[in-house]
Amino acid sequence: MNDPLQVDAYAAADFNVSDQAVVDRIEQLLAVDGVHFRQQACLVDLGCGPGNISLRLAKRWTDCCVLGVDAAERMLRVAEARRHDAGVMTERLRYQRRALPLPASSLEADLVVSNSLLHHLHDPMHLWSSVKSLASSRCLVLHRDLKRPDSEASIDGLCQQHVANAPEVLQRDYRASLRAAFTAAEVKAQLAVAGLPQLQVMEVEDRYLEVSGWITGCQAGVDQRSP
Ligand SMILES: C[S@@+](CC[C@H](N)C(=O)[O-])C[C@H]1O[C@@H](n2cnc3c(N)ncnc32)[C@H](O)[C@@H]1O
Repeated sequence: MNDPLQVDAYAAADFNVSDQAVVDRIEQLLAVDGVHFRQQACLVDLGCGPGNISLRLAKRWTDCCVLGVDAAERMLRVAEARRHDAGVMTERLRYQRRALPLPASSLEADLVVSNSLLHHLHDPMHLWSSVKSLASSRCLVLHRDLKRPDSEASIDGLCQQHVANAPEVLQRDYRASLRAAFTAAEVKAQLAVAGLPQLQVMEVEDRYLEVSGWITGCQAGVDQRSP
C-alpha cells in the first residue's frame, strides 16, 4: 500500500475505536495470565502502516521498546511524522521498512501484533513464519483482520454499513479486502501447518477474526537463531 491516494486516505481515516480495541485486548490477554511486560520488552507491530497501533503501544507501555515494520515507504513517512509530533523518542519507537516474510532474527519479541495485515499478504504463511522468527521464548501474539463474508450480498451489506460515507478509494479497498480475507477455518489450517496450533482463532463482531495466544519455548525463533 504505497499509492499516495491510498496512503493519504488511510492515514486520514478515523480508526480510533478499532485501534484502541487492539491495545485493550492486549491488556486483557496479559491480565488473564497475570503477566506484565518486562522493562525494555520488545513489542513488534507488523504491517504497521501509518503507525496508529505502534504509537498507542509506545504510549501505553512506556518502559518497552516498539518496532513498527511495513513494506510501504510512504506509510512509514506518516508513521515517523506522527512519532515525532507525539514527542516519543526513537529509542522507544522506531520503524523499519521491511517486507514479510522476515528471516530468522536476533530480535526477541515479547509481543507480535498485526492489524489488517494477513489478507494483504501473497502467502499467509509469510505472517506465521515471521511471527515465529521474531518470537522470544515467551511471546504474546495478537493478530486481527477482516473475515471473509460468505456471499457478495453480505459484502454489500458490510460496505453499506461501515464505509458508505468514506472516500471512494477506501470503499474500493474495503470491498477488495473483504473478498481477500480468510475464514476462521482457513486461518486455523494455516496455523496447523505453521506449527502454531495452540493459537486461538475467534470471530469478533460481524466482520473480524482474531488470532491470539502465546508462543513459547522451541516454537519461537530462539531455536532457529545462530548461537
Ligand atoms: C490495511 S494496512 C494496516 C495498517 C495498520 N496495521 C493499521 O491497523 O492501521 C496494511 C499494511 O500492511 C502493509 N503490508 C502489506 N504487505 C506487506 C508485507 N509483505 N510486508 C510488510 N508490510 C506489508 C501495507 O503496506 C499496509 O501499510
